[in-house]
Amino acid sequence: MNFIPVLFILVTTPVALVSSWDPDAGIVLSYTKRDNVTVQATSGGDVGRVIDGNDNTNWVSGSCLPSYYLHRSDVNILLNACESGRCTTNGNVVNTVNHATDGDPYTTVSVSAASTTATFSVMLETSSNVKVISLSGKYNSETKLFVLTSNSRQQIKTLNTSNNYQNINSFIKDDQLQVTGVEIESSSEFLIKELGAIGPDGCSEEVKVDLGEARSVGTVRTRHWAGTNSASALALMLSADGHTWTQTSLEPNALHAVTTTVKLQIARYIKLRYSVNMKNYNKVYCYEIDAWDANGIWGPSIAPKPAKHSFRDMLGVNGIWGWGNQKYSYMLGPGEGPFLYNAIASHARNYHNLNWDVTDPDLDPEYMEMAAGRGTQAMGWLNWDREYQAWRNANMTIDASIQFTNKTMPDYVWDTPEQSARHYGQEFANHFGSEKGNGLISAIEVGNEPWDYDAPFYAAVLRGMSAGVKSVDTSMIVVPATFQAENKDDVHTYIGTRVLEDVATNIDVINCHTYSFINDNNGVRRGTYPENKLSSFNNIRPLSRWRDVNTPNKPLWVTEWGWDSHGVGENCSGTECVSERAQAIYAVRGLMLLARSNIERATWYFYANTDCETLFCRSGLTSSHRADFKKKTVFTMFEALLSTIGESYFQSVWQESADGYIYTLSRLSQNHTVSGDLSGHVPPNTSHIIAWLPIDADDTSFKQVTIPLPHDIHSTSGIRFTGFSSIQPIVPISDFSQCGQNLTFVISTEPCLITLQHGTSAPIVG
Ligand SMILES: *[C@@H]1O[C@H](CO)[C@@H](O)[C@H](O)[C@H]1NC(C)=O
Ligand SMILES: *[C@@H]1O[C@H](CO)[C@@H](O)[C@H](O)[C@H]1NC(C)=O
Ligand SMILES: *[C@@H]1O[C@H](CO)[C@@H](O)[C@H](O)[C@H]1NC(C)=O
Ligand SMILES: *[C@@H]1O[C@H](CO)[C@@H](O)[C@H](O)[C@H]1NC(C)=O
Ligand SMILES: *[C@@H]1O[C@H](CO)[C@@H](O)[C@H](O)[C@H]1NC(C)=O
Ligand SMILES: *[C@@H]1O[C@H](CO)[C@@H](O)[C@H](O)[C@H]1NC(C)=O
Ligand SMILES: *[C@@H]1O[C@H](CO)[C@@H](O)[C@H](O)[C@H]1NC(C)=O
Repeated sequence: MNFIPVLFILVTTPVALVSSWDPDAGIVLSYTKRDNVTVQATSGGDVGRVIDGNDNTNWVSGSCLPSYYLHRSDVNILLNACESGRCTTNGNVVNTVNHATDGDPYTTVSVSAASTTATFSVMLETSSNVKVISLSGKYNSETKLFVLTSNSRQQIKTLNTSNNYQNINSFIKDDQLQVTGVEIESSSEFLIKELGAIGPDGCSEEVKVDLGEARSVGTVRTRHWAGTNSASALALMLSADGHTWTQTSLEPNALHAVTTTVKLQIARYIKLRYSVNMKNYNKVYCYEIDAWDANGIWGPSIAPKPAKHSFRDMLGVNGIWGWGNQKYSYMLGPGEGPFLYNAIASHARNYHNLNWDVTDPDLDPEYMEMAAGRGTQAMGWLNWDREYQAWRNANMTIDASIQFTNKTMPDYVWDTPEQSARHYGQEFANHFGSEKGNGLISAIEVGNEPWDYDAPFYAAVLRGMSAGVKSVDTSMIVVPATFQAENKDDVHTYIGTRVLEDVATNIDVINCHTYSFINDNNGVRRGTYPENKLSSFNNIRPLSRWRDVNTPNKPLWVTEWGWDSHGVGENCSGTECVSERAQAIYAVRGLMLLARSNIERATWYFYANTDCETLFCRSGLTSSHRADFKKKTVFTMFEALLSTIGESYFQSVWQESADGYIYTLSRLSQNHTVSGDLSGHVPPNTSHIIAWLPIDADDTSFKQVTIPLPHDIHSTSGIRFTGFSSIQPIVPISDFSQCGQNLTFVISTEPCLITLQHGTSAPIVG
């Protein structure tokens, strides 16, 4: 449908010919989603579903008990025992004796009484513990089943005619008993349909992926929920040759997908081995298996670059109409609303609801009427100008995220999605833009998280709205909604089908929301530290790769990030909650990570806690209105951070390892940074060094680091961001020493900031 404009761009814009658009540029394809991957399982069907990219389709095993295992050589320790000559009988045998252990209950062997008894026995290959003995047969009189040990014969069951043709399972409770054989004895002729036994390993089921070739595996993601209490244990096993395996245990009852870091190794086979509980008709499941190298789905880390924007310029806050005060922001005083949060935020992002402007997206928002005091088309009372003016008075620039979803503006109410969106964009830019309008708003996002629309629908709205804005005001920054770039199979949130090549000329920024979660061993989502290599905080990597390929000169904005925590009288009850101290510490570390990852903006979510109790309700920099917007430690820590390095820039990564993340900062932006041979010294023009251990905030580890300083360092001083209290979130440190040009200090999970004073005289111990 939109083929012609695309062709037009290709013909007239040579740049488009040179660059090649790749909608999937962010993806690090799982090894199981590549060519020539096959799957096998010990039983059951639909085994291909474990690599179909759908977490909700599954393989289901067969059931080991009551008798399904009999034909399985990996479970039935008596299978083909007679064929191997391990069966004896004192009676006459009709049919071949092999039928007793051939795994097939439809073939039989008849044992007749020699004198007074008919006896049939089978020996195990090696004596071992036996868990279950299965016997099906036809008996003419009382028939006894025994287990044999090296020095005894113990009866475990008596069978009679009422058991004829049934499979009877006898469970042996004594797990110390070393069984050497099984014997059946009767005073009259009997028929054996099948005799089998389960050995010490019990029942197990395996699903095995053959990657088709050897790969370097360091991360495995499995949705392996076995069925409630269906399995007692689950092993994740890897092998290069299919013979020797390494093994990691997983929690079989984990309901959600789990990502496991394994020792980096060459592997061609990935196997899940379920130890199945011995209940009749018990089955296990596997939904999906994926594997990558040590970086997992996120791929390699972003190459650090000196920042163009200072920390103060980077940091902003997500707000909302009235900032939780139930009244216009212009009615608020100093220390309230925008005049509170501007202490740490140079910009503010608003959730600007489309349905506050128009009742129907095909209608005109009537901003001129609004400016004249008569409200928008949708809300007779609303005046965005008055609201946004207060934000501007607090010296924050404004990013309006136009919020619409299929819930609030269903796809079917848009008569002409692209044209209606274009019209709205034009009206918006005409009213709020700096070229034709009042200049209150500097950036517009075409949607916040519009993940419930189909991709082509959203793509059309983005095409229309972005073109509409740019046709009126080229300086207004146009930002698409936030999407992820790592997983094509997550069709609701994938960027590749929504931000298309034809909008590249009308958008200015790529948008990302990044929260720091992992799924624990039980598949439960937890808040975690931002450096965690499994953390979803790493979603900036795939988006950054996508940007590098498709829109290489456009900045990446993180328009939402943060952690939920309790504190200032408000509890946090979700599994994602972290402590108030961890929230503050991760905020500082997270901002450093974003700065080193070439992220231009980091807009904290949320200005305050909200009234709800679920995820994201406790992300505030302050408590909610109910607790009077009291500052949490994260707020005071950001204030302390900006008061020291607000006007500084990320400069370089000195070290990023388990022994510490150490970055240098500069008072000079990227454009001024001097590079060259540093001969193992920190760069000249370094103003600060910031360092911490990249682990959980509650971990009390520390490490000593030594850094050779430039020769002109006159003095050093340091502070530590402890996160311990909002009154004194930072403390001066003295546990560092300078020997020659070497600076030695101790780092912990609390970021430690060293300020370097350049000068001409000899170094002074700080
Ligand atoms: C897949 O297998 C086919 C046939 O064995 C082979 O020709 C092809 O090169 C393989 N593809 C890959 C990507 O290994
Ligand atoms: C067969 O054994 C059952 C117990 O397993 C018993 O209840 C039943 O009376 C026996 N039948 C005969 C005919 O001996
Ligand atoms: C906004 O910035 C101006 C100029 O830097 C300054 O004079 C003013 O005090 C600031 N206003 C607020 C509310 O911070
Ligand atoms: C959007 O919502 C409408 C009405 O609730 C529904 O009929 C439609 O299927 C939804 N669209 C998508 C893409 O889910
Ligand atoms: C927070 O939780 C604690 C422990 O569960 C409880 O004692 C306290 O009353 C709660 N506080 C609030 C404000 O809900
Ligand atoms: C940066 O450092 C270099 C080398 O020490 C020095 O020559 C230069 O003047 C510094 N630049 C600024 C702007 O301070
Ligand atoms: C500085 O540290 C380096 C490495 O830690 C060491 O090799 C060097 O001798 C130290 N220099 C001084 C003056 O202590």
